[in-house]
Amino acid sequence: MPQVKELLVDTLQDLLHAETQLTAALPKMAEAANHPKLKEAFEKHLMQTQEQVARLEKVFQLLGEEAAPKPCKAMMGLIEEGQETIQEGQAKEPLSADLALIAAAQKVEHYEIASYGTARTLARQLGEMESARLLTHTLGEEESTDFLLTMISDPLLQQATLDDLGGDVNLESVGKTARATTKKRPTSK
Ligand SMILES: [Fe+2]
Ligand SMILES: [Fe+2]
Repeated sequence: MPQVKELLVDTLQDLLHAETQLTAALPKMAEAANHPKLKEAFEKHLMQTQEQVARLEKVFQLLGEEAAPKPCKAMMGLIEEGQETIQEGQAKEPLSADLALIAAAQKVEHYEIASYGTARTLARQLGEMESARLLTHTLGEEESTDFLLTMISDPLLQQATLDDLGGDVNLESVGKTARATTKKRPTSK
């Protein structure tokens, strides 16, 4: 197989395994989520992930290659960490548990964004424009999910900060803390 096509097929095989594992992990994330918006986000992304698996299978078909998954150790590790986050969350305040779940989920999204970005670049290089279009569709869903998770975390983080300040709420210090927190948060792309 030509080397660039081989790179693409390797990336797709890795992604197929990663996405398939996620279809099993996301229901657990949804179940563990406390905030209804977070639960809903995980449930929605589960449906998207199932479509993404089908989209990957279509790309394999377009390339004339077998849709054979190759164990994705990185995603296996991220999912394992996600399981730990779920378990540790049971002893945490609901807000903290949700913020930790969001952090775990965003690591997954960023891994997917990196992989789909690479796959799309390789597909374009090969002139496989229909495959590149399908990969762009999925990449957009991963980016939107990452953005949505940041949006959901924002008020939760503000609330957790207020809770930490306890009964002794000084509005001026709340504002300062909130601003400091906002500054630290990475900007969404
Ligand atoms: Fe995905
Ligand atoms: Fe995703």
